[in-house]
Amino acid sequence: MPISHPSFGAVADDRIIIFDTTLRDGEQSPGFSMNLEEKIRMAEALADLGVDVMEAGFPIASVGDFESVEAIAKRFAKDGPVVCGLARTAPADIQRAAEAIKPAARKRIHTFVSTSPLHMRVKLRMEPEEVLALVTASVTMARNATDDVEWSAEDGTRTEHEFLCRCVEAAIKAGATTINIPDTVGYAVPEDMAHIFRMLRERVPGADGVIFSTHNHNDLGLAVANTLAAIRAGARQVECTINGIGERAGNASLEEAVMALRTRHDAVPVQNNIVTTKLLKVSKLLAATTGFDVQPNKAIVGRNAFAHESGIHQDGVLKDASTYEIMTPESVGWTTNSLILGKHSGRAAFRDRLKSLGYEVGDNQLNDAFKRFKDLADRKKVVYDEDIAALVDEEVHRGSERIVLTGLNVSTGMGTKPMATITLEVDGERRDGMAIGDGAVDATFNALRQAWPHEIDLKLYAVQSITGGTDAQARVTVRFEEKGKLVDGQGSDTCTIVASARAYVHALNKLLVKRERTEPPSVLPQKASA
Ligand code: KIV
Ligand code: ZN
Repeated sequence: MPISHPSFGAVADDRIIIFDTTLRDGEQSPGFSMNLEEKIRMAEALADLGVDVMEAGFPIASVGDFESVEAIAKRFAKDGPVVCGLARTAPADIQRAAEAIKPAARKRIHTFVSTSPLHMRVKLRMEPEEVLALVTASVTMARNATDDVEWSAEDGTRTEHEFLCRCVEAAIKAGATTINIPDTVGYAVPEDMAHIFRMLRERVPGADGVIFSTHNHNDLGLAVANTLAAIRAGARQVECTINGIGERAGNASLEEAVMALRTRHDAVPVQNNIVTTKLLKVSKLLAATTGFDVQPNKAIVGRNAFAHESGIHQDGVLKDASTYEIMTPESVGWTTNSLILGKHSGRAAFRDRLKSLGYEVGDNQLNDAFKRFKDLADRKKVVYDEDIAALVDEEVHRGSERIVLTGLNVSTGMGTKPMATITLEVDGERRDGMAIGDGAVDATFNALRQAWPHEIDLKLYAVQSITGGTDAQARVTVRFEEKGKLVDGQGSDTCTIVASARAYVHALNKLLVKRERTEPPSVLPQKASA
């Protein structure tokens, strides 16, 4: 029997709601923070991918979080996915979430409290009956603000079953429309998962009128397996993130869960709305935004996911791809036509290629990106899709930055002390710096600190090659720490030193944005992070 849901209407028995939490659970993991512009771009890409619900953030966590949830809600004021804000049980949390999501056409408050004996005793210092009262009070308050309310039992998989049933019953009675059972610490195995969902659906009064949801962390590498087990036991919402980012070992990866559902429809016969050919693009956008590439052997989106190295496999694939491929690379967005433009290519061809890679850019961004493309094509024999994606991602990031790198010269060699001269524009004003260092990168960073004096704790410096060949672009990631907060910056160029300077300046700009944000008010009884 279809369930009637405030945001989705009649939800067919085999329909899976894809709830993406890249911008909340994903973004709260160290090093993955994004600024407002980046979050909006990511939100647009997720909407384009077809996610049903987007958890846009945790509005009480900081002014910046509130603003980004509100901005995403405004972006989807007419249509688009359900925009969800996370809240603990405190009235201030719920109120803040309600305010932030208000502009969205479809909106959800997601409120949660810990229900396991360990969390209740150590973290909340509360008796079970007190927690039960919080469930009712928080869901009631959320429900007064919006019709679509999700309630989560934090550490649900380590909760006593009897108590979990009572909490779920209280949440349903108070008006929750989705019940989420997170495996917060990634402890469950698929059998536990199946048992919990079957038990809740059989035992809790009112269970047949709500959507059950599964939210799995990957501490034992079982997040996707647990997700599938939950679906087979009746869960109809899957919480997941692009590239599986999230707290600690991350969350169930959206692309893996979705492709498992598609490829093994025989075993898990359900439907969802994800446009799978866009998976790779969104994965790459996230990697470019955060500076964290997925590992080469990552399922679906890793660069080796469809590469066949051994002669036996290659031979088989040439005869019939299905010998060693259970899904086509094209079905998740890989294209065979990777070698594309050169220095004689015109603006129209460039725009066309951008479009087929899924980028819609305005005229100004197109002009800037085209200029950089021409410059790159002059220095590099062949320009691959990956080069173009890196270049455009960088150009789009840079729209409104206060510090702009306008010039760099480095001299280095055997037996000489490397020296760098640098020119920046800071809020439109020219700044010059010159310095030596223990290597070309060190000299460049010293010159940057001279041009715009600042104290920074550099935590990470990493270089990756975007494609193969000695003329490949380097992608550099740097990470700064200031007062316990981390920011990452990325830069790409055929010259590693220029890429390093770009990455450094990008991180500085992100740091400026972060400094402008104020700290969250502290609200008891739960800790400030979800
Ligand atoms: O893992 C978890 O328990 C969570 C909740 C806030 C849903 O992320
Ligand atoms: Zn989580």
